[in-house]
Amino acid sequence: MQTLTFAVLPGDGIGPEVMAVALRVLEQAGQRFDFALDATHADIGGIAIDNHGVAFPDSTHKVCEDADAILFGSVGGPKWESLPPKEQPERASLLAIRKAFSLYANIRPGLLYEEIADASPLKRERIPEGIDIVCIRELTGGIYFGDKSTTRLDNGEEQAIDTMVYKTSEIERIAQVAIDTALARGKRVTSVDKANVLECSVLWRKVVTAYFAKHAPEIELDHMYVDNAAMQLARDPDQFDVLFTENMFGDILSDEMGIICGSLGMLASASLGARKNRLDRPFGLYEPSGGTAPDIAGQGIANPSAQILSAALMLRHSFGLHEAADAIETAVRSTVKAGIRTADIAFGLASVGSEAMGEAILKHLD
Ligand code: IPM
Ligand code: MG
Repeated sequence: MQTLTFAVLPGDGIGPEVMAVALRVLEQAGQRFDFALDATHADIGGIAIDNHGVAFPDSTHKVCEDADAILFGSVGGPKWESLPPKEQPERASLLAIRKAFSLYANIRPGLLYEEIADASPLKRERIPEGIDIVCIRELTGGIYFGDKSTTRLDNGEEQAIDTMVYKTSEIERIAQVAIDTALARGKRVTSVDKANVLECSVLWRKVVTAYFAKHAPEIELDHMYVDNAAMQLARDPDQFDVLFTENMFGDILSDEMGIICGSLGMLASASLGARKNRLDRPFGLYEPSGGTAPDIAGQGIANPSAQILSAALMLRHSFGLHEAADAIETAVRSTVKAGIRTADIAFGLASVGSEAMGEAILKHLD
């Protein structure tokens, strides 16, 4: 029997609640598909600040280092918002862990099941068959990680600088991820930039065009300015198959994609890098895209689906357990189809809590 060694970092807010449900789903999938879990829990984010004084303690780094994958919850919350920005959970743990393991490729499947098309703010006639897009976002470069400073000018006012920076190799390696993703899907990629204004985008477009021409001429590649892409995503999401972009634009567009897909509570993600785990598969961090949801944390009503679907992505990418991943994804879909829904996707139906949603998904997994 295969044993899966992974780090579990539930974090803050709804993180621990939805993580508990996801672990039960993994456990049951293991019984059906013959694998065992070797999961080591560690603190990350605000809880780590409280318990260890820093958001990404060395002990947590070590747990991740020794694992084949990381299952991540979410970090941050009002309690830590008064800390200096550099010490806040989002920057000091989530961005730090992405950087520490060079997780440059963020894969976010934007999936709206036809059954819950009503949960989308888009009119039904715009999405007759639901939505099925994958956003590939560069995750360790750009304005997130370029030099930053805040200085006091001679006239006394403050000035802040963030630098957007990309080099050819960073663009090429993420272009390869877009190619791999597109080859397994519709062979259509829309690369999003702001090449009419930004030097980084001029380089992005040039490198992407050349890389695709050389390595995947069979893929239909389009370029779109980010402002237009944001509009097109709301106007006619069906035109997109693989949405491919740099860090900041991907942050914004993936939230837009999340909401047109009904709820951030359904949106999973995988962040991969060059590092291979002991199975010679990609080491990765798997997290829901929705954040800590402090407004509903502790109430037991959060949608556990994004965390469960992130766990499925972990099985697929880092452990090569495709059948088990498919089964979990199907179980989530069948549960939603059966009308068992948390409040964020209930739309007129009675809603259930995180636990009950998890129980229903477990039943469908059987
Ligand atoms: C995301 C989040 C993070 C980001 C925040 C929490 C730093 O919004 O994963 O999209 O901006 O990348
Ligand atoms: Mg974001």
